[in-house]
Amino acid sequence: MFDSMVLPFDGHVEEFLRLIRAFQILILAAETGAGKSTRAPLAMLKAGLGGNRKIGVTQPRRMAATLLAHWVSDSNGTELGGAVGYQIGKEFEMSRDTRLVFMTEGVLLAQLQSDPLLMRYDVIVLDEAHERGVNLDLLLALLKGVLAKRSDLPCQESTPKVHLSDTAIPGLREQ
Ligand SMILES: Nc1ncnc2c1ncn2[C@@H]1O[C@H](COP(=O)(O)OP(=O)(O)O)[C@@H](O)[C@H]1O
Ligand SMILES: [Mg+2]
Repeated sequence: MFDSMVLPFDGHVEEFLRLIRAFQILILAAETGAGKSTRAPLAMLKAGLGGNRKIGVTQPRRMAATLLAHWVSDSNGTELGGAVGYQIGKEFEMSRDTRLVFMTEGVLLAQLQSDPLLMRYDVIVLDEAHERGVNLDLLLALLKGVLAKRSDLPCQESTPKVHLSDTAIPGLREQ
């Protein structure tokens, strides 16, 4: 099944890619159904972001992580577990080819224990960031430290990007 519907995000792909390359943190705010959760990760995948490492997308709910992985994998025309995969708890559909991973916030928090600089990713998307759950708040605090440390790495490609998806995040600008 190929997802061919035109969504609001589609008119802003080039601008989005320019901004995500230019800035270390990008906040994407658009109405529900605009394509934030599906088209934005797919656009990054198609543009070659995550080429060296991976694009990781967190979701507050397990169901969203698996549904999005299936949907985006189909939209990309690849098998689940190929270019697009997911990880929820210990369950995963991934392979050496996987460049875009949908996961729960808990998975990223667990990975921070063993990989404190998240070297396996070059883009991290915190989707549904406006919900400000406990895990998300913890991730925001920890990622702030990761961004500061990884921006010291010499090559541009090694600087991770954090893309906070969804509506405005109260308090973020003051941090
Ligand atoms: N699992 C799915 N099944 C059917 N349609 C879907 C699914 N996921 C996304 N879509 C389609 O993609 C559109 C964009 O969804 P999404 O990227 O989740 O929007 P946003 O994150 O901006 O709210 C939806 O309006 C819907 O038409
Ligand atoms: Mg969404």
